[in-house]
Amino acid sequence: MTDYPYVPGLAGVPAARTSVCYLDGNIGKLQYRGYPIEVLAEHCTFEEVTYLLLFGKLPTRNELAAFDAELKSERRLKFRIIDVLKQLPESGHPMDALTAAVATMGMFYPGDHVEDAEFRRLTVVRIIAKLPTIVAAWHRIRRGDDPIKPREDLGHAANFLYMLDGRVPSKTAERVFDVGLILHAEHSMNASTFSARVTGSTLADPYAVVASAVGTLAGPLHGGANERVLSMLQTIGESSPAAVRHWAEDRLARKDKIMGFGHREYKVKDPRAVILQRLAVQLFDEMGATPIYDTAVELERQMADLVGKKGIYPNVDFYSGIVYERLGIPIELFTPIFAIARVSGWLAHLLEQLQDNRIFRPNQIWTGQVDREFTPIDER
Ligand code: SDX
Repeated sequence: MTDYPYVPGLAGVPAARTSVCYLDGNIGKLQYRGYPIEVLAEHCTFEEVTYLLLFGKLPTRNELAAFDAELKSERRLKFRIIDVLKQLPESGHPMDALTAAVATMGMFYPGDHVEDAEFRRLTVVRIIAKLPTIVAAWHRIRRGDDPIKPREDLGHAANFLYMLDGRVPSKTAERVFDVGLILHAEHSMNASTFSARVTGSTLADPYAVVASAVGTLAGPLHGGANERVLSMLQTIGESSPAAVRHWAEDRLARKDKIMGFGHREYKVKDPRAVILQRLAVQLFDEMGATPIYDTAVELERQMADLVGKKGIYPNVDFYSGIVYERLGIPIELFTPIFAIARVSGWLAHLLEQLQDNRIFRPNQIWTGQVDREFTPIDER
């Protein structure tokens, strides 16, 4: 029995006491450890923000240098993990390959136990460092190419882009991708972070925690939306107000969810979408403009008129795909990129959960029958 009401999707129900990420969806306010996302996006690197999320404070220059060196030293993958990736069907989605590789890593790095602080720290650094290498390796292996080894003279963002095709990105491309990672690094009690906390609350090892979170992020209503937004914009195929409005009205009339719009918390435009839209335009000078940006802007305009009164505005996924497409990143890597950023948030929440842990075990509202009479099969 329970004294609490059932709330679908636990909307608005607190699942933790936390100081990792603050957001006020009514005014589009988002802060990591109390620092506004706009300030972090302007002044920090992903490595610096990861340090802030994990340890609760911005690092000194020496602390950041030491943390950066730790991450770089852990980027390489064991060849046996590469061998596992080589056995996977090349038609498989990169998020499935990532789940498999992360779970495999846990077998190669068995630890004393997650309650050991040194094991926790080393494992957290190792996972954050290796996820980009796994995603880039799978991307190349599935196309019949050898993986490109990580370089220690490149930052986290540049090294990932380098491992995709062997080319060091321009400073503009590196910085735009770095800010994209910062914007995707954390977002309070979203579904995949909740998964991470639930799995972590059982004292499962951090590899199992991240494998669980990756699987949750893959869903189209969560991290999987970003690749669907780009396909949707390409399907609309033009930016005339009449055509875009007709497309939107048709989908809304069919009660279709329009990818990249709406949010459980935000009732205004996602502050990350505001920054990502600016990053997209910033890339146009170097990478050239794209007509799907005009389609996106017109769709945003039409959706504001059609459903803005319901608080449905662009979320983080609406402009991110345009940024990645301009960077030359294949569409099937959009969600894995979300994962290599959000892993910092997942692990920050894991560390916090373990500081004052109680295993998650919610209740239920019973809707079935009880004490039913059993009938042997030949009498049914
Ligand atoms: C992310 O939680 C996080 O923080 C997630 C995230 C993060 O950083 O971790 O921000 C990342 O997952 C962003 C969201 C990406 N997903 C999408 O873009 C998929 C499309 N969006 C929707 O599926 C939806 O908006 C959700 C899933 C994001 C939120 O779902 P809710 O809060 O459960 O809202 P709902 O489905 O109950 O919708 C409420 C109403 C409904 O209309 P009514 O039945 O009341 O008339 O709003 C409508 C919905 O039909 N609605 C939409 C819509 N989103 C909500 N209608 C059309 N298109 C949409 N996108």
